[in-house]
Amino acid sequence: MDKIQVKDKTFTVSIPEADILKEVKRVAAEINRDLEGRNPLFLAVLNGSFIFAADLLREVTIPCEISFVKLASYEGVFSTGEIREVIGLNTDITGRAVVIVEDIIDSGLTMVHMIETLKKHNPSSIDVCSLLVKPGNLKVNLDVKYKCLEIPNDFIVGYGLDYDGFGRNTRSIYTIVEE
Ligand code: IMP
Ligand code: MG
Repeated sequence: MDKIQVKDKTFTVSIPEADILKEVKRVAAEINRDLEGRNPLFLAVLNGSFIFAADLLREVTIPCEISFVKLASYEGVFSTGEIREVIGLNTDITGRAVVIVEDIIDSGLTMVHMIETLKKHNPSSIDVCSLLVKPGNLKVNLDVKYKCLEIPNDFIVGYGLDYDGFGRNTRSIYTIVEE
């Protein structure tokens, strides 16, 4: 399926499943190499990262844990600019090698806010692992140590990412078709 309809918008395939999985494997191999012996704690940011986190973790071969947190700043296709709090951090991250698992970094404001929040709990390190980065929209200086793919500024759905809650359940990633 090259074109899909999500609510009132049409999307066309832009990153096929095979291309995504290849990059997920590459990034997992980097993590396996860099964090060997550190028992990393992956903190996956719900809802968007649930599929990425599942695929990534199954490629991680070193001892590790995963926990899930929630925070959202997006409504419809434009960022609201509103930053919400980190909810559900019920694992002690003191002294841990934390890897934040995110679906997409757009302005980067969400991630900077989350890093500041986590730092207060004194982890030994915090790395960011994002499936996608839109470098053209970055508003902050943010080091994304592990990134699968860089994409243009267009709005996308699929592989966990949504448009107004819908469109998460596709294997490939789709870009909006502007009419
Ligand atoms: P940021 O704070 O602007 O970096 O916002 C990042 C969040 O916005 C991500 O975690 C996504 O939930 C959402 N987001 C950004 N771009 C897209 C997109 O193209 N499609 C779906 N969600 C997006
Ligand atoms: Mg998200």
